[in-house]
Amino acid sequence: MTTPSRATGRQRVPFFRNSATWQRVRDAVEADIARSIDKGTAVDGILVRETEEELTRRLGCAGVRMTASGSDALLVLLKQQGIGPGDEVIVPAYTFFASVAAIAHVGARPVIVDILPDRYTVCPGAVRDAITERTRAVLAVHLFTTMADMERLAALCAEHDLLLVEDSAQGIGMSRAGSIAGTAARGGVFSFFPAKTVGALGDAGAVIATDERQLAEFDAILGRDGAGRDGEPTYGCDEIQAAVVRACLPLLDEFTARRRELFAYYDARLRPVGGVRRLPVLAPGDVGYVYVAEFDRRDELQAHLRAHGVTTEIFYPMPLSRQDCLADVADCTRPVPVAEAASTRVLALPLYSDLLEEEAAHVCDIVHDFYRQA
Ligand SMILES: Cc1ncc(COP(=O)(O)O)c(C=O)c1O
Repeated sequence: MTTPSRATGRQRVPFFRNSATWQRVRDAVEADIARSIDKGTAVDGILVRETEEELTRRLGCAGVRMTASGSDALLVLLKQQGIGPGDEVIVPAYTFFASVAAIAHVGARPVIVDILPDRYTVCPGAVRDAITERTRAVLAVHLFTTMADMERLAALCAEHDLLLVEDSAQGIGMSRAGSIAGTAARGGVFSFFPAKTVGALGDAGAVIATDERQLAEFDAILGRDGAGRDGEPTYGCDEIQAAVVRACLPLLDEFTARRRELFAYYDARLRPVGGVRRLPVLAPGDVGYVYVAEFDRRDELQAHLRAHGVTTEIFYPMPLSRQDCLADVADCTRPVPVAEAASTRVLALPLYSDLLEEEAAHVCDIVHDFYRQA
């Protein structure tokens, strides 16, 4: 790797850190915030609008509206699509909880199905099996590194007259077969949670419109159309988060290249290790948002890493259809053996653009050490 390193004492490798990025963007962010305060536009301010314009330009789409979070963006998108009570929405068992929560929140019924064995995205065959006369939409989730199989899902949705929408919260920068994440279906979202490939300092998100009519409908939901909306929730993004996203967007290519470099490093160091079941592979168009690998004796490995200063996460500890809180609001009856198996073995190692070379080396040393002792 070619990136900076620094001498450390006893190694501690946090799961996420953005202090170096913050030092790079700080002056620009502070200047922007001062500019916004001078303008006196605290809500839907100039920084929100400028960031939306920049995202729209990059995506080449009809328009983007920033929201308070990726979760809020999903709500705006599902509402705009008119999804609600009486509708079923098919969603993968393996995703962040917000994908399913958003469907339940608008009053529709999530129908939870299995994922593909060779990647962690929804299985089109399982989607086909789950279609009923109440099915209204499929929420495709782009996960960890890669987009869902949008070609097959689009064909299936066209055949059955279903809406296809994207939970592209993790997907900024991803593309596949000529499609760009967030613009590959009837609408998409981004999350700018700090650990995302482009992150704010707190919660922020965006909802992506594929045509002008949809953009106008987003504006109505967000209260940007000038019409009254008393009592409706506010979903808008604040100027401070918009300033950070705006400053980080020009670094997206650099961030993705750095993540790719770290993926290659982990791959070279971990591939020879017995006990490593599966390592993630980046195809062209993929973005290494998180490094989720599968390991034998995962929980013991995680404890060993923790004892040696390395923080990891389990994305995700169980298929969503096994979450008790969803039992009454979702269809959790479909078999999800692929998601079940993955959830017992996955471990996400630290992976972010500020990760130092010796930190990645330390993580790999500890994994080697664990399986050598075993
Ligand atoms: C797949 C997916 N959907 C939705 C969200 C929700 O985004 P946010 O945390 O910004 O609300 C996330 C966040 O990690 C996510 O990974």
